[in-house]
Amino acid sequence: MFFIKSIYLLVVLFIYETHCINYAPVVTTRNGQVRGIIKTLDDGTELYVYDGIPYAEPPIGNLRFRKPVPIGNWSGVYDAVKYRQSCIQPDKLEPDNNIPEESIKSEDCLFLTVWSPLPKTCGTKRPVLYWIYGGGFETGTIFSIVNDVRYVAAMGDVIVVTVNYRLGPWGFLYAGTDDAAGNMGLYDQLEGMRWVKKNIEFFGGDPNLVTIFGESAGGMSVGAHVVSPLGAGLFRRAILQSGAPNSYLGSESREKSYNKTLYLARNLNCSTESGRAIVDCLRLKTADQILNISKTARKDSKSFEPIFGEDLMPVQALDALQKGQFNQDIDLMYGTVSQEGALFVESLFPNVFDPSIPKPKINVVAAKQYIQFLYMVFKEPYGGEVADFYTRGLADTDYDRLRQAVGYGFGDYNMACPTVVFGREFALHSQGNRVYAFRVTHPPTIPVFPNCKGWMGVCHGDDVLLLFGFPIRLRGITFTESDYQISRDMIQAWAEFARTGSPSKMGSANWSEAIDRQSDSPYTKYMDLNPNNYSMVSDYYKESCEGLWLKLWNVKK
Ligand SMILES: *[C@@H]1O[C@H](CO)[C@@H](O)[C@H](O)[C@H]1NC(C)=O
Ligand SMILES: *[C@@H]1O[C@H](CO)[C@@H](O)[C@H](O)[C@H]1NC(C)=O
Ligand SMILES: *[C@@H]1O[C@H](CO)[C@@H](O)[C@H](O)[C@H]1NC(C)=O
Ligand SMILES: *[C@@H]1O[C@H](CO)[C@@H](O)[C@H](O)[C@H]1NC(C)=O
Ligand SMILES: *[C@@H]1O[C@H](CO)[C@@H](O)[C@H](O)[C@H]1NC(C)=O
Ligand SMILES: *[C@@H]1O[C@H](CO)[C@@H](O)[C@H](O)[C@H]1NC(C)=O
Repeated sequence: MFFIKSIYLLVVLFIYETHCINYAPVVTTRNGQVRGIIKTLDDGTELYVYDGIPYAEPPIGNLRFRKPVPIGNWSGVYDAVKYRQSCIQPDKLEPDNNIPEESIKSEDCLFLTVWSPLPKTCGTKRPVLYWIYGGGFETGTIFSIVNDVRYVAAMGDVIVVTVNYRLGPWGFLYAGTDDAAGNMGLYDQLEGMRWVKKNIEFFGGDPNLVTIFGESAGGMSVGAHVVSPLGAGLFRRAILQSGAPNSYLGSESREKSYNKTLYLARNLNCSTESGRAIVDCLRLKTADQILNISKTARKDSKSFEPIFGEDLMPVQALDALQKGQFNQDIDLMYGTVSQEGALFVESLFPNVFDPSIPKPKINVVAAKQYIQFLYMVFKEPYGGEVADFYTRGLADTDYDRLRQAVGYGFGDYNMACPTVVFGREFALHSQGNRVYAFRVTHPPTIPVFPNCKGWMGVCHGDDVLLLFGFPIRLRGITFTESDYQISRDMIQAWAEFARTGSPSKMGSANWSEAIDRQSDSPYTKYMDLNPNNYSMVSDYYKESCEGLWLKLWNVKK
């Protein structure tokens, strides 16, 4: 249901690359040799890119639904010079499927890409950033232009690794058997992290200085690794953007997940008498048959997501944080955009939430009804309380603020407050770790989704557009100087966090830590990512995430 239509940005940003191939040096990994390609930024800066290196055996045939098997050795030189297959996923709308990098999909998709600035002569190792894409655990690929991290690598002077992981039932089916135990997509990410630990030094990266980062489902994944006993020792720092494992889509019980498995099995005429029978039957179905059902499953809220109660995430994330059972030796950064929910409510109710309608049919009562409707869909009992909270003080003619209220009602529950609460609990139950928060309040001139305008502020996903430097690439063409500045400053801050554990200042504004552990009332203090006025803001979440939501989620203060 909550599936965004299309990433329109591609139309603007699809820049054809030169067709003559300049090879990057051959690197010898522990599994064999790889040849890369040299990519050139518009300003002439060169990067070595090793595109689509296999890190696990193809999870096909009998390996379907199994945890990834580390890649075996190969002989000869593997050509890591072009895109490979994306993990199988529903088609997106045009124009995305016109781009070959996005349209070639397969179960055989466990590849990662290494983006590296040219080696330093003195041979010092660079910090590594490891990117986990979002897409609701149903879509996403490292071969999409939206996950092109060349500017982060070049301007941040860091190595960036991007990883494909399995999606939908292939990544998250739970059948209660050893060979379909759930969380396979998270295990893929973990296997990629192990690959980095073992191999990144050959690319000039420091295996002991890895920062994992991700947005939306990627942020939820990053949070899962933060609380996972299996993540220990694989990374030094983590960044959660607009998502945490305690988000609505972030994780669920095995029982709930198994119900989705039953739904899939029934719709494919498989016996549902046992998990064993289901897995054996599903292994015989074609990928297209499974994909076909997954599409209807989304409408029925039967899409798969990670589970807790399993080796990778033994307990719910917030419980793990409160018990101190998480990777205590890491630094954390977390943050959101100003209007996480806007795109979703706009796509659900365009007749009212389309920002081009100046006086939509909405008033206080209607706004409350929209919120209550959403909480019925979420199957949460507290829709009325949430509706009252977000509409308090508003008048029937506050069209934009009423629409924003519904946007917050959606986004605070799904993305913003889970992320803020995750960061807060991490900070409060750890010592000595550095913890920083941010909130993006500067809307890029061209947002990721073209509908994002007016009342909608900064929409879900726009932080990635800024962080990946699209305004640098298109400076003065489609993006303004402010867009350029925030892009540049975010790349520097993220890279410096990866290097040292503290982000570099934004303009003249220093960051301070998100949570004052000594305080009796520790409220999240964040860097307001607005290039016209970078500054630390306190107490913004005091009443929402750190008031209402801590209470509704029964989080002990
Ligand atoms: C793969 O190659 C590495 C050396 O790079 C070697 O240590 C390892 O034993 C090999 N693995 C297999 C399964 O042959
Ligand atoms: C699973 O589905 C059954 C039947 O539809 C339902 O009664 C049960 O509450 C569901 N369990 C969970 C944990 O959602
Ligand atoms: C399941 O069985 C029904 C009835 O036999 C049939 O109409 C339908 O096409 C089957 N579906 C699949 C996915 O095999
Ligand atoms: C996909 O599902 C539709 C109905 O839901 C059915 O008509 C069609 O045959 C299915 N296609 C495949 C490949 O299973
Ligand atoms: C920012 O931090 C630096 C280094 O800690 C310090 O020298 C500087 O005075 C700080 N700037 C402001 C505006 O607080
Ligand atoms: C900059 O932001 C701070 C903190 O939100 C605020 O107090 C101040 O008024 C802002 N300054 C301007 C010029 O907008």
